[in-house]
This record gives sequence, structure tokens and C-alpha cells, in this order.
Amino acid sequence: MTHTQTSDHWRMERDNDDIAWLYFSRKDSSVNTLSTEALTELDDLLTDLAKNKPKGLIILSAKESGFIAGADVKEISSKKTIEDAAEFIRLGQAVFDRLENIDCPTVALISGFCLGGGLELALACRYRIAEDDPKTKLGLPEVKLGIHPAFGGTVRLPPLIGAPAAMDLMLSGRAISARAAQKTGLVDYAVPKRHLLEAARRTILKPPAPHKPKRWQAMTNHRLVRPWLAKVFRKKVAAKAPEKHYPAPYAIIDLWQKYADTPGRMLREERASEAQLVTDETAQNLIRLFFLQERMKSLGNKDLIDPKHIHVIGGGVMGGDIAVWCALCGFTVTLQDHKHETIANVMQRAHKLFKKKLKLPRLITAATDRLIPDITGSIGLSQADVIIEAIFEDINAKHALFKEIESKIKPDALLATNTSSIPIEDLAKVLSKPERLVGLHFFNPVALMQLVEIVCGTDTDQAVIDKASAFARHIDRLPVPVKSTPGFLVNRILMPYLIEAVVLESEGVPASVIDKAALDYGMPMGPIELADTVGLDICLHVAENLSQAYHVDIPERLKNLVKAGNLGKKTGNGFYHYNKKKGGKKQQKKSGDSNMTNDEICDRMIMKMLNESIACLREQVVEDADLLDAGIVYGTGFAPFRGGPMNYIEKEKKAELKDKLSKLTEKYGDRFTPDAGWSN
Ligand code: NAI
Repeated sequence: MTHTQTSDHWRMERDNDDIAWLYFSRKDSSVNTLSTEALTELDDLLTDLAKNKPKGLIILSAKESGFIAGADVKEISSKKTIEDAAEFIRLGQAVFDRLENIDCPTVALISGFCLGGGLELALACRYRIAEDDPKTKLGLPEVKLGIHPAFGGTVRLPPLIGAPAAMDLMLSGRAISARAAQKTGLVDYAVPKRHLLEAARRTILKPPAPHKPKRWQAMTNHRLVRPWLAKVFRKKVAAKAPEKHYPAPYAIIDLWQKYADTPGRMLREERASEAQLVTDETAQNLIRLFFLQERMKSLGNKDLIDPKHIHVIGGGVMGGDIAVWCALCGFTVTLQDHKHETIANVMQRAHKLFKKKLKLPRLITAATDRLIPDITGSIGLSQADVIIEAIFEDINAKHALFKEIESKIKPDALLATNTSSIPIEDLAKVLSKPERLVGLHFFNPVALMQLVEIVCGTDTDQAVIDKASAFARHIDRLPVPVKSTPGFLVNRILMPYLIEAVVLESEGVPASVIDKAALDYGMPMGPIELADTVGLDICLHVAENLSQAYHVDIPERLKNLVKAGNLGKKTGNGFYHYNKKKGGKKQQKKSGDSNMTNDEICDRMIMKMLNESIACLREQVVEDADLLDAGIVYGTGFAPFRGGPMNYIEKEKKAELKDKLSKLTEKYGDRFTPDAGWSN
């Protein structure tokens, strides 16, 4: 190397071929993110380079964690006015413009994460070369935060790879592998690690023609085609995210449809649109959830446990799926269940999930090999580092099991139960060391629900709680420690909402009208359909459990449906009918109109949820309002753009909501009585 130039976040080395290698390593951070400081320094370096032009420029990361994870989300979310936000965006756009216009070949050399602003930087380079490795991920995840690419990403991506592929990336926010990126033309070469540096060097020394989209891809951006395609994109987005709640994806489509022929104008419009979005409530709430997710992750220190072997007891709905998920995550799993056919059924489910997630036959075989049937527990009990009990919800059966296994398991193994209703301290009574039992309460379906409640009994040791949270992180789940009170956190808050929905239905409001009111509020699924999906027997069981502690009145309608064997989707009949001939499509049983407005229906259900949230906080079921919000959003799907029940209460004004509850109490009775916590 002939010359080195450094700044706080960047280091530039000029080699003997006069190639400039520009390394990014954000100071005081384990990952590279683009802040004002980092961008300004990059701007200065590029200005210098333009004066003293190298043969070519290669931008790469000096960090193990990857290329660039995006713009600095903390900095973005701190911009409270449109002007402040626009200034930050203007800086990013200007720097990347400078990079794009530098008069020499430029290469983004990508390993690991290349997301958001990181990918936009790469798009401003003439070539992109990515490491062909599972850890390389390229994507534009901004929509997940209620915003969109704004450092020129919406402008540069569609002409490079065509509108369908570009929109797929921007509207879904998903990340793709190096190989998939090469297929679409997003990266020029996907190469193994050992060839990376040489590939970049050769590209500079013998620059090939820059990537051009295929003719049909280019046609998708044509002025006459755009209105048609935009309609298709909007329809696809609308099926998942209504515009009034999630405006960002619609803004992306609008920008492209209106301005794709005038990149300069599009860049200005991109900036204006982003500055508006980032200061709006949806983005502020989604960004808050992003940080809450980070907080949940930080609750589990992976170093506290090294779970090489996991033993699951009970291969039913939950135990089976927990075992399969752990095997998918790379751990050796033994599955104990006294029924052979149950284990055979789990192996079938496992094969389906492994096929879907792992795709390659050798990876599927390896995962299948990791999942070991162990009818009596003779293999796993004595070997496992983590034991998860998931047998019937019956205290006597669980007691008998714990008594039997305590002496067989390793003294330092993590012992957990997936009980959904039995207090941990009651279960732990039969153990000689009750302090070692903790709840790991997963949600159904395990592969989709990210949250795991870490249920802390009165006797549970803090070290055990910490280990349980750490284990949740090893299997990529989000831990929230909760008190072992009836319903824990999620079911306690969800159930009053579901029960009120059933009461409404019993009063004659059609199920579809109730569900629509909840969907309009922003729930991912209506409460009646949710009850049918969870299973009405399970709903009834949870409701009965809660009714003992909190005097919940269980609607006769729910009891009658269960008595008649109509348990919801799984039996083809519940509140809805599920037509087998039409692939299980749901059909309304009762039709008719309701004289209640959407708002009234919604208020009755949501206010029950909010009231219970206040009660949980007062009783310290969970540490604070932020963790409550995180638990309810990730455990129930509560309208993410509202940022969780406590955030909603804060924004809507507590006194007014309490007043609303008092009015509902006058009209419908004591079940709406405001909790004492509203006065705190
Ligand atoms: P399930 O009835 O589907 O499965 C229970 C399994 O345990 C059966 O396969 C049975 O053969 C097996 N089993 C029973 N006693 C056994 C023993 N002594 N040794 C070995 N295997 C035994 O039950 P599900 O729904 O999977 O529930 C399991 C646990 O998970 C319960 O504690 C439940 O409260 C909890 N849970 C259930 C949720 C759900 O949505 N179903 C959600 C969250 C927690």
C-alpha cells in the first residue's frame, strides 16, 4: 500500500495499482450504520478523491458484522420536524450522488448485512460484488419502520433490475441472498470469500460494461406500463397493509409511477415524501417497536447458556412444534412422547417446515437427523442442557412427570415448562429444588410467533430466569419476563377482548362485522376468526382459568359451541363454518345487520384490552409499559402502527379513555369498570 488516509469512521488505502480501498468501520459501534458524521466524512473523502482520481474505488467494511446495516435509525427517529428530517436526507442523497458521479469505476464489496442505506450506497456504485455466503443479506427494510428508501434507492433500483423485482424488495422489506441478488441483477457477481478481493480488483482493472436490465425488465418502467403495474402493486400491498395505517409502501409506488422518467425530480420527491413519513405517527411508533425489539433481544445474554442438546417432553401441538423449531435452529433435539404416532406426526410436520425454510436437500437431511425420537426419554433426559415440558395442561400429570425426571436430568440443566395457565410455583412444589423451574411460554404457531414469555414463579432463581431468556435468543425468539399470575401477560390482556367479541356476537352482531371493526382498528385478524383459529376449547380453557382469578363471565355461546364439538377451524365449525371443499374458506353462519356503529363495536373490545393492560402494569405483571407494549404487539399482533396499548393510551390521553370506560360501565355493566391503575 502506498498511501493511507483515515478519519473517525473511514480508512482509505491506495495500493500500488492506484486502487483506493475505502474501509468503513463506524466508531464505537459493533455494526456499521450511516450517521450524519459518517456521511459527512465520506463526503469529504469523495471530494478529495475526485481531485486526485484513483484508478478505481472499492468500498468495503472493516467490521465482522457485515457491510452496512442501514442509516442510523436513532438519528432518523430523532428528527421531529420535516425540515430536520429533510436536511439529513439531503445529506445522504448528496453524498451518494457524488459517489455515483465520480469519474472512475466504483465497486461495493459486500459481505454480511447490506441493508437500507447500505444497499443504497451500493446502488450508487457502478458495480456490486457480494460474498456468496448465507450471512450475506441484501434488502431495503425501510417499510417495516413505516418509511421508504430515501438516499436515492427508490430512484436507482427500478431502472437497474426492473420494477417487479425492485418493488418486491422495497414493498416487502425482505432481504435476499447474494445468489438471489445476482439472479435479479442487483449484484454483478456472487463469489466465495476467498475470491472477493481479487474479483473487486479485477473489476477495477478491467471494468466490464455495467449491468443493464433485460429488455422486458426495462419495459416495466415505461411510462405507459407504469399505471397498470402500479395498480397491481397497490392491490398486493392493500391485501396486507391498508394505506391509512401504513402509507409508506403506497408512497413508493406513487413516486415511481409519477416520476420514474425524471430522476432529478424523483430524488427531490423521494426526500419530501420521506421527511413527511418519518415525522408521522406510524413511523414513530414502528421505529419505537424496532427499539423495543432490540431491548427484548438484549434481555437474553447468549453467553449464559450453551444449549447443545434440547429435550422436549410432549409432542403435541406445542411440544412438537417447539422441538421442530429448535432442530431448525441447529440444535440436537430429543422428543419424548409416550405415543409413537404423535412423534411420527411431528416428524412429518418437521419435514414440511425444513423443506420450506432450508430448501437444500443436504440441509433438510441434517435438520431431520438433529430431531431424535425418544419415547421414554432414555436418550435425552440425562444429556440435555435444556428440558422443556409440554404435556397436557394437567397439574397432576405434570407433577408426576417432574417427580420422575428431577433425579435423571443434569443438575445444571435449564428446566422449563410451557404451561399456559398453571402457576410456576404450584408446579415446582414437587421438586426438591423448586427454584430451578421457569416458564417458557411459547405461542401457537411456534414458527411464526416471535414472543416467548419467560414466566417467573415466586421461587424461580434470577439466574434461571436469565438463562431462560438467553435460551430464547439462541432459538431466535424474543423473551419478555412476566410474573406467574393467571394468564401471565398476553393471554390476560387478549382474553377480555376475545370474550367481549363473543358477547357482541351473542347479542346478534354478525361475526364478520365484529371482525371488520377490529381489522379497521389495525388488528391483523378479527377476534372471532382468531378464536376459531386458536381453537374454541383452548379459548374456553384459558377463559375458565382467568375467570377463577378475575371474575370473568364466560359467554354461554362459547361454552355451547365447545359442548357441541364445534371447536373452530380444526373441526370445520366454530363461529364461522369452514368449507372443506373450498380449501377451508370461512363462511359466515349468521347474516344480518347490526345497529351498532363500527366505533362502538371497536370501543367495547379495545377498551377491555386497554383496561387490562393498565391492571397488568399496576400489578407489575411485567416490568414496565414499554415491555408490556412489546409483549402485546409481538404476542397478539396488536396494531403495530399504534405502537402497543400503553403507547396508544398515552397518545389518546388517559383521562379521556378512562371517561370512555366509565360511560361503557353505565351502559353495559361492571365488566368495564376502570381499573384503579388509571389514576396512577
Ligand atoms: P397436546 O394435547 O396437543 O399435547 C400433549 C402431548 O403430551 C400429547 O402428545 C401427549 O401424548 C403427551 N403427553 C402427555 N403426558 C405425557 C407424559 N407423561 N410423557 C410424555 N408425553 C406425554 O397439548 P398442547 O396443546 O401441545 O399443550 C401442551 C402444553 O402447552 C400445555 O401445558 C398447554 O397449556 C401449553 N400451551 C398450549 C398452547 C396451545 O395453543 N395449544 C399455547 C401455549 C401453551
